[in-house]
Amino acid sequence: MFEARPPAKINLTLEVLGRRPDGFHELRSTFLRVGLSDRLSMQPAPLDAREDRLTVTGLPGAPVAGNLVLAALDAVRAHVGVDFPPLEVTLEKRIPTAAGLGGGSSDAAATLGLAQAAWGVALSTADLRRLAAGLGSDVPFFVHDAAAAVVTGRGEEVTPIEPPASALLLVTPSLALSTAAVFNRYDEQGGHAGDANDLWTAAVSLAPALGELRERLAATTAREWLMSGSGATLFSLYPSVEEAVQGGTAIAGCSFAADTLIHSVDLVGPDPAWRYP
Ligand code: C5P
Repeated sequence: MFEARPPAKINLTLEVLGRRPDGFHELRSTFLRVGLSDRLSMQPAPLDAREDRLTVTGLPGAPVAGNLVLAALDAVRAHVGVDFPPLEVTLEKRIPTAAGLGGGSSDAAATLGLAQAAWGVALSTADLRRLAAGLGSDVPFFVHDAAAAVVTGRGEEVTPIEPPASALLLVTPSLALSTAAVFNRYDEQGGHAGDANDLWTAAVSLAPALGELRERLAATTAREWLMSGSGATLFSLYPSVEEAVQGGTAIAGCSFAADTLIHSVDLVGPDPAWRYP
């Protein structure tokens, strides 16, 4: 059995520098790995299995069909040129899905590592990064395994840095935002610059409740709240995980937080220091 705990990320900053001919956007973003992680395990599938089998449990919203975990297994087969035997994969989702936390990308990056172990192959670092970039824009950050990094290009240029924070509080409302839809709205709006996240204006126009949530979080905690990635997770930096826990318990008592998932995390993990509900 091969196991991993793929971590989440948040984007401390996210600048959109322009639209590229391939439709993707040129970005500059500070990524921070945070202590909230999925559980991924793999073992050889039963002998009668003809293809990889994936079972997903935990938080809703991660499909089996088209899951990046399966895409990552096929990417390794295609790259090595060997039809490696099917694997039995289980994925327990603890990172909220379609929430700007990179969970699916992190699962894909961890799959690249576990598949190599399960099949006894070793990809070069350059090949691993190339496969990662082909799977999704956030996957290269996770294969770098850095606590924090400045990420540029479409997401494939990763420069590790010292983590600039020690603890965070994450508040994820129960609305899934599609990354593609947010980027499309960003283009329709003519490329508004945001305060720390250029996708904020686009995300809040698709989900106006996000604007109200951000105001209430700021009023309740007297802190600045920012959006991660294309949303809808909002986060605030704290000097210590204890203070983040205090912030989380204050928010959890408010009626506006009824439909949110709250995690207070450090940058090590793999599990949050405190969560609600
Ligand atoms: O690469 P990934 O599959 O995560 O991207 C999802 C969608 O987000 C893309 O189809 C694209 O619409 C948008 N995107 C973008 N520019 C990026 C990353 C993502 O336009 N750098």
